[in-house]
Amino acid sequence: MYIPIEQIKQHFHYDPFKAMVAPRPIGWMSSRGADGRNNLAPYSFFNAVSNAPHMLMFVSAGLKDTVTNCRDRGEFCFNLVSHSMLHPMSRSSAMTDQDEFELAGLEALECEHIDCPRVAGAPASMECVVTQVMPLKDKDGTELDNWMVLGQVVAVHVEPDYITQDQRFDTEKAALVSRCGYKDYMASGRFFELERG
Ligand SMILES: Cc1cc2nc3c(=O)[nH]c(=O)nc-3n(C[C@H](O)[C@H](O)[C@H](O)COP(=O)(O)O)c2cc1C
Repeated sequence: MYIPIEQIKQHFHYDPFKAMVAPRPIGWMSSRGADGRNNLAPYSFFNAVSNAPHMLMFVSAGLKDTVTNCRDRGEFCFNLVSHSMLHPMSRSSAMTDQDEFELAGLEALECEHIDCPRVAGAPASMECVVTQVMPLKDKDGTELDNWMVLGQVVAVHVEPDYITQDQRFDTEKAALVSRCGYKDYMASGRFFELERG
């Protein structure tokens, strides 16, 4: 079936875009406001975009607090979401002026290299310095109210439990949660190795 994008709603009850680009890793972003208040929120328009240097990006629909904080202070921290943190992660998505660490019953630890909180107990966290904050543009070149933040990783915290004997990060044990479409999430699936080619 061929569907021009403007007709998508005629064929699906809900827009399937996020169900098709799935699963998406969840960037659980901690940041600090200009007023010193801690902030925490999940972003699934999120991914790693470079390995050398290590860089991450996320996109916010509108100028949400995390983007404002990134713009104001030039720093954020990415925290991995393990299955055991699913509910606090969900609670931290509340649109509120309250500190989401408190709202979600999470302990905030201080980052080392940047002036920013991180989530205690996350399998790993990455301290990032913001390199770009920019609005997306549509195909006609019109600037949108969708903001992409890019950051360079300057330090990593890893819970020792998730480092294997042969010094790998144990992704399977970390049981990372990812986002699909609708209200769907995915917990870590079946792990297997594949040689390239
Ligand atoms: C799993 C999950 C993923 C989300 N991904 C995004 C996203 O990619 N972009 C976005 O703008 N909002 C996303 N949201 C909604 C934000 O987390 C929510 O609007 C939050 O209140 C923003 O917080 P902030 O204003 O403190 O940044 C997501 C929510 C959940 C639960």
